[in-house]
Amino acid sequence: MKKKIFFDFQRAQTIIRHCPVYQATPVQRIETPFGGQLLIKDETSRFRMGAFKALGGIYAMAAILLERWNEDNRAPIKPEHIFTEEVSAWSHQFTFVCASAGNHGLAVAKGAKLFNAKCRIHLSKTVPIAFEQRLLDLSATVVRSGANYEESMRAAIEDCSDVREILLSDSAWPGYSRIPSLVMEGYTVMAEEMRAFFHAESTWPTHVFLQAGVGGMAAAIACHIRSVWPRQPTIIVVEPEAAACLMESHRRKTLTEVKGQVSSMGRLDCKLPSTLAFEILHEQANQFVCVSDLEAELAVDFLASHRLRTTPSGAAGVAAMLDAEIKLEGLPEGSIPLALVTEAED
Ligand SMILES: Cc1ncc(COP(=O)(O)O)c(C=O)c1O
Repeated sequence: MKKKIFFDFQRAQTIIRHCPVYQATPVQRIETPFGGQLLIKDETSRFRMGAFKALGGIYAMAAILLERWNEDNRAPIKPEHIFTEEVSAWSHQFTFVCASAGNHGLAVAKGAKLFNAKCRIHLSKTVPIAFEQRLLDLSATVVRSGANYEESMRAAIEDCSDVREILLSDSAWPGYSRIPSLVMEGYTVMAEEMRAFFHAESTWPTHVFLQAGVGGMAAAIACHIRSVWPRQPTIIVVEPEAAACLMESHRRKTLTEVKGQVSSMGRLDCKLPSTLAFEILHEQANQFVCVSDLEAELAVDFLASHRLRTTPSGAAGVAAMLDAEIKLEGLPEGSIPLALVTEAED
């Protein structure tokens, strides 16, 4: 029998709340061009990093360090003790290694800075130079590896040869799922913030649009919605046309790598899903759709007209929502769609 995947959002929330500058991000209401209302979870201010990804990398690193401390010292410590001088000095022996399309690397670099660990981030040649500079500003070691995300991931895996070099990937594959499941557990903090907001407002979305790269974020949110939210929305997974790997995997009922052009939705341009994300979304999502680069650009403009400045990756969920209104002749009357704006503009 398949093991049920479970994320401990309360543990994630406890650890994340102890991190300096943590604040829940807002949910905004904006008018759509079709006269309805759209709810937006606005991640553009998250952890002063400007992307939800901070939750995953920082939380997973904290959880790993706490576990390792317990193993080394046989004495469990409380999450807040991770910031003490003793634990911080001990943490410096560890190097966290990852590949990134941008934001996951920033999250890992931010975590390393917070906890006094080291990090090495592999970027493929498609990742903008601006990300590299931001990583260097956080004292990360940056390695340019490969022509695409998948190649940079292979380089990151090969780059871990010591027990103190820890691969902190946001994607899972057979035999490697514990750490990515911690990253996803971190993302559930965002879903729990939304649950608390909707509970307080007594308004629940009817449709949730979740953009996906490897699918970790969409799967973590879907899991939380399905296990905790009292009103169940339709969950729609959104991918770039050039990288619809979850849609294709869902259609074929098996993990599938796709080929395609490079998408302007750079952070979503992943051609192979995370195994863990696929497993969850295959069962828990209702629909898989894709959006073109042009549609994502139009959604960026639409959001900018509401003073929400994001990128095509950040606007992809909104693009799918606007697309649903056009192609499906509108969502059903009385629908309350929710989309996530997942990052601030570059
Ligand atoms: C801004 C942004 N949105 C969405 C995603 C998709 O997340 P995932 O790769 O977990 O599907 C990413 C991933 O890096 C991202 O940076």
